[in-house]
Amino acid sequence: MYFLRLKRQLYGFAITLMCIFFLMWLVVNQRFFTWIPRNSDGHVVDSIQQIHAVQRRCVCESSLVLENNSSILREINTKLSNVLDRVNTTAKANKVKSDNKTIDIVNDYYPFVDFKFVFPQISPTNVDSRDLFMVVLVNSGATTDYRKRREAIRQTWGNRSNCEQRKASGNEKVKDLKWLLVFVVGKAGPGTNDDELNMAEARQHNDMLIGNITENYLNNIIKFYMGQVWASKFDIKYTMKTDDDVYVRIPRVLEYLVNAKFPRPFYGGWTYAGTLVNRKIGGKWTVSWKYYGEKDWPRFNPGAFFILSSDLLNRLFNYVYIRKPFHTDDAYVGVAMRDFRVRITTISTFRIDPDMNKQIPKLKDCYLLGKTALGHNVDPIASKILFDRYETMLCGNIPKKC
Ligand SMILES: *[C@@H]1O[C@H](CO)[C@@H](O)[C@H](O)[C@H]1NC(C)=O
Ligand SMILES: *[C@@H]1O[C@H](CO)[C@@H](O)[C@H](O)[C@H]1NC(C)=O
Ligand SMILES: *[C@@H]1O[C@H](CO)[C@@H](O)[C@H](O)[C@H]1NC(C)=O
Ligand SMILES: *[C@@H]1O[C@H](CO)[C@@H](O)[C@H](O)[C@H]1NC(C)=O
Ligand SMILES: *[C@@H]1O[C@H](CO)[C@@H](O)[C@H](O)[C@H]1NC(C)=O
Ligand SMILES: *[C@@H]1O[C@H](CO)[C@@H](O)[C@H](O)[C@H]1NC(C)=O
Repeated sequence: MYFLRLKRQLYGFAITLMCIFFLMWLVVNQRFFTWIPRNSDGHVVDSIQQIHAVQRRCVCESSLVLENNSSILREINTKLSNVLDRVNTTAKANKVKSDNKTIDIVNDYYPFVDFKFVFPQISPTNVDSRDLFMVVLVNSGATTDYRKRREAIRQTWGNRSNCEQRKASGNEKVKDLKWLLVFVVGKAGPGTNDDELNMAEARQHNDMLIGNITENYLNNIIKFYMGQVWASKFDIKYTMKTDDDVYVRIPRVLEYLVNAKFPRPFYGGWTYAGTLVNRKIGGKWTVSWKYYGEKDWPRFNPGAFFILSSDLLNRLFNYVYIRKPFHTDDAYVGVAMRDFRVRITTISTFRIDPDMNKQIPKLKDCYLLGKTALGHNVDPIASKILFDRYETMLCGNIPKKC
């Protein structure tokens, strides 16, 4: 009898212990409280509908007040980091195996971008924004090479007295469409005099946005937003984001928009289709599943040059509450546009080649006349060659006809 009772008590004790352990396990794993949707292969599902399902709510303000006011900016960034932190904490509770034991590419943000809204510390003064139609935001860098690239752009495609611009001023279609070109730059940081040189350059040319952000590849997205936020202060119709190693015939871009009857919403560029997302630890364009849970990128316009209509800017600013910004800004914009159901436009006269500088000498006159924007790797020498060829073809003794 006594033994039987003891046995029963032991069973009861064991069952109670098991229950306690099970509950503790639930709590530790947070399975009880959070649910992260996964694909059949175990990857975090991250499409916009499912984001809403896990209550990553968009704290969308219909018009996000992005003024150059440090207290307002701090408030916005705190709210933003609260929203994103919550997601991050959830992620850490669900660690799974990965290539690198210290990096969980499925459930962590990798590479980690400490996103915040930044206003430029230096910006052009006395901007005449009346009837401003388009702001061209040229991403550039802080060191010597980039100063050379900016100088080349000021003397070639960004120069208002070049032949193409002069002709445009007599062209009814585009002569009233005012544009402004600014370079978007961060800080080199201590140890060099680059920042002083860039400040001096900004004072001399009055065409630079300098943000208090360290120049590195991860901060690209912060620079991108800084430029768009600054441009959105003006009553413009479009922004065009470009890199500093491209050649853009701005009047032809304007003409394109006129001929297309000023499309809105508009997201246009040279389109990449069917690119796999790189998930390899350490890759330049690697983006973890946590940021973006699909295998392929949607079609997107690479960062060398793309155009956004201004009605999209505010939505893009609010989108950071829905999907944490990752460093490849062009793909991020592409994903946002896909989620907004904005149709992507491919501008057929834009052209990207990985080594455009090597191609340029081989390109025929008529090919060049048919193109509006050419990129990557158009270095200062290649820019000058292109510039001279366009000057000759457009304003030479015998203008070229194709
Ligand atoms: C910044 O915003 C705060 C809060 O709205 C306001 O009290 C302050 O006057 C603003 N500062 C400037 C310089 O505009
Ligand atoms: C988010 O997670 C990453 C990787 O686990 C970590 O490096 C980062 O510090 C976290 N960020 C925040 C704001 O908690
Ligand atoms: C923003 O405010 C800071 C501090 O008041 C100022 O130095 C900077 O020039 C301002 N930037 C712009 C773009 O107005
Ligand atoms: C624009 O081109 C003209 C003529 O070549 C040149 O004198 C001027 O310095 C250029 N502007 C800039 C900002 O470099
Ligand atoms: C720039 O940022 C650094 C680091 O966040 C900060 O210490 C510094 O005060 C900022 N400088 C300006 C001019 O805002
Ligand atoms: C992978 O993890 C090791 C530590 O085990 C770390 O030193 C290394 O930097 C990580 N690799 C990358 C690409 O982050």
